[in-house]
Amino acid sequence: MTRVLAICGSLRGGSYNKAVLEAAAELAPETMAVEVFVPASVALFNEELEDAPPAAVKAMIDKAAAADAILLGNPEYNHSMTGVLKNALDWLSRPSAGQPLKDKPAMSVGASPGPVGTARAHAHLKVVAWTIGLRLWPGPEVLVGNCKDKIEDGRLTDEASRRFLAKSLRSFADWIERLD
Ligand SMILES: Cc1cc2nc3c(=O)[nH]c(=O)nc-3n(C[C@H](O)[C@H](O)[C@H](O)COP(=O)(O)O)c2cc1C
Repeated sequence: MTRVLAICGSLRGGSYNKAVLEAAAELAPETMAVEVFVPASVALFNEELEDAPPAAVKAMIDKAAAADAILLGNPEYNHSMTGVLKNALDWLSRPSAGQPLKDKPAMSVGASPGPVGTARAHAHLKVVAWTIGLRLWPGPEVLVGNCKDKIEDGRLTDEASRRFLAKSLRSFADWIERLD
């Protein structure tokens, strides 16, 4: 079983990105167990806290270390990733945390009410992922644009988006199998 930690880059109760991660948990192949994680209690990164991280940070580090693969719910703020996601990645990138993301396969998904989805946030994530050693799945990104028409009451309802997400997750799982 591939244990997948799905880190959500939004803390909003009605987050569209969380809805996409929850759909991923539903639609993932049987070989994957997806846990959705919202880093709501994770403090802002501070180098002075690295050696004794707050409990919520330690819990996130432990979850990342236990995961075989990572899903990133990557919302777009001002044409980039959110501070919430970057903050989580900064904590998880550190040698003091054991670099639990290093060499792990990862896939980014994103939802935005705008027509181009989260393409620009994804482009920025690529730079960070490369820097911290996350192995980003090279397939076409799951970008749910115009998401207000596709997510209702916290559920991804758009059938085409669900089919594409399910297909992408199958390809992601196959790709993980082939990685050395
Ligand atoms: C500070 C801020 C900046 C934003 N910038 C963008 C943007 O550059 N591109 C975009 O598509 N949406 C942008 N949005 C709209 C978000 O995509 C929208 O709020 C979305 O619902 C956030 O994801 P969530 O539903 O998971 O919280 C922005 C929202 C905020 C609050």
